[in-house]
Amino acid sequence: MPTFPERVFSGVQPTGSLHLGNYLGAIKRFVALQETHDCIYCVVDLHAITVQQSPVELRSNIREVTAAFIAAGIDPKKHIVFNQSQVAEHAELAWVFNCVARMGWLNRMTQFKDKAGKNSENVSVGLFAYPTLMAADILVYRATHVPVGEDQKQHLELSRDVAQKFNNDFAESIASNGFGEAFFPLPEPLIQGPATRVMSLRDGSKKMSKSDVSDYSRLNLSDDRDAIAQKIRKAKTDPEPLPSEVAGLAGRLEADNLVGIFAALTGESRADVLKRFGGQNFSAFKSALADAAVAGLEPVGSEMKRLLADPGHLEAVLNDGADRARVLAAKTMGSVKDILGFVR
Ligand code: TRP
Repeated sequence: MPTFPERVFSGVQPTGSLHLGNYLGAIKRFVALQETHDCIYCVVDLHAITVQQSPVELRSNIREVTAAFIAAGIDPKKHIVFNQSQVAEHAELAWVFNCVARMGWLNRMTQFKDKAGKNSENVSVGLFAYPTLMAADILVYRATHVPVGEDQKQHLELSRDVAQKFNNDFAESIASNGFGEAFFPLPEPLIQGPATRVMSLRDGSKKMSKSDVSDYSRLNLSDDRDAIAQKIRKAKTDPEPLPSEVAGLAGRLEADNLVGIFAALTGESRADVLKRFGGQNFSAFKSALADAAVAGLEPVGSEMKRLLADPGHLEAVLNDGADRARVLAAKTMGSVKDILGFVR
């Protein structure tokens, strides 16, 4: 396999208010990667419509994710921030990948099975094909590294399978068009950090989610300091004091989650956090956690509010990002057409 220049791509769905899980699991890591890589960050509205969306809410959610990217510290001038539907090549390459991916591969996707449940005859074809669009998002930029949560690992594997099969099926044409041994890189997931999986504050076995009925289960980026402090005070714990070592968190889902959140917010390891708080009850720990959460989230939330007050500026950022993304995507798509034998 030849080596490809390193490039980061990731996407966030504009499907509801953003919470701590999105921030620690995705956005905060996107910010860090800017130091070492060329990065492309996308608001994936084409993925959002795999389930029905209210147009009014969708538009406002697209602005909210864009504002969150910028408020968290992504620099849309040095890197690229844009909205998926503004670059038609994503959908175009996804069609090609629908013809590369096999039914059996998509049938194995656990996220589809979870989302479709017993209703699989009635969900959209788009929901089934979701992973091929995701592969197109990444590969239309020939991106090599993809920061995602644990739950997207299987989709990343599918992206690799699609890239590999395309490279194999069209090996001769890839070589004769001057692209050597492989046209697409096999993109690697970047899954790491203490809190890639942030769980509900009310139930340590469930992911923190925008769709949980209890707002006390999550910290929203839009929460003010009082709301943050109160939600942490009410967060579920257990009657034991905190352990002094990481091994002592085993089986204590809520304690494990809160320690993980603390570590991710402050940049410490779980072990360091427990050195400090081990043997104590939860109350001192919770008040330190509330301070860390306010310090981490509140500046992002208030900067988001400021940005959201000027939708014209956010749209200008997205338009500029789309113009620059389109140049890269069009180049890949042109090559794909040559490789496939299309006339252009
Ligand atoms: N499926 C991802 C999620 O729900 C969002 C996404 C769409 C994505 N396209 C992507 C993530 C490409 C990484 C790369 O979190």
